[in-house]
Amino acid sequence: MGRFIVGIAGASGAPYTKRVLQGLLSGGHEVKCVISDAGRRVLEVEERILLTGNTETDKPDLLAWLQLPQHAEQLEMLHHKNVAASIASGSYPADGMVVVPCSGGTLAKIAHGVSSGLLERAADVCLKERRKLILVTRETPLSLIHLRNMTAVTEAGAIVLPGSPGFYHQPNSVQDLVDMIAGRILAHLGIDTTMSKEWTGPEPTLYAEQD
Ligand SMILES: Cc1cc2nc3c(=O)[nH]c(=O)nc-3n(C[C@H](O)[C@H](O)[C@H](O)COP(=O)(O)O)c2cc1C
Repeated sequence: MGRFIVGIAGASGAPYTKRVLQGLLSGGHEVKCVISDAGRRVLEVEERILLTGNTETDKPDLLAWLQLPQHAEQLEMLHHKNVAASIASGSYPADGMVVVPCSGGTLAKIAHGVSSGLLERAADVCLKERRKLILVTRETPLSLIHLRNMTAVTEAGAIVLPGSPGFYHQPNSVQDLVDMIAGRILAHLGIDTTMSKEWTGPEPTLYAEQD
């Protein structure tokens, strides 16, 4: 089973966070989770989950939100100010990291190597160790600064995977849209999942109606 790092920054997109964590933990993988202060604030606004920054008490609260209390052994919560944590070192053998969601601020820090907190440091380590780093950015519209920072992280080896789902797979619910993005994130981490469906082309009848 793999060892993955999940960073949660202060952008909109908590449903993506939830599904990615559910996919990793229910798949039997180990997860190190680090949340920025703004990330906790957004979780509170979007999901009504109140995390205090105390990693001991935040862990059961996060697992309860995920509806996966039985997966406690696989999850370690790390404080974002704890720059001495395992994931701050390249010697920790992470199989990959995803920042979901990734704010414009955290994108900027990663793009410029500003490792002021554990989340950005762990991302910096992934880049220097040539490990997979996925940034699920969420902002619209994008400024030239955002675009340049996205270019910089891409040139450094990260994958920018915006939280912007498509509609061609006939979604029936918001959950379908969330799962499309979460499934793509997990696939990029090398995890086999049925969360997002493979596109096999449009139904033949659609063409017939146009003739
Ligand atoms: C409810 C809420 C939603 C936000 N949504 C976004 C967003 O979608 N994208 C973004 O870049 N910033 C967003 N922000 C602003 C960031 O949280 C803010 O810039 C913060 O300083 C980022 O800190 P971090 O990068 O350390 O997490 C949001 C803030 C709040 C409170």
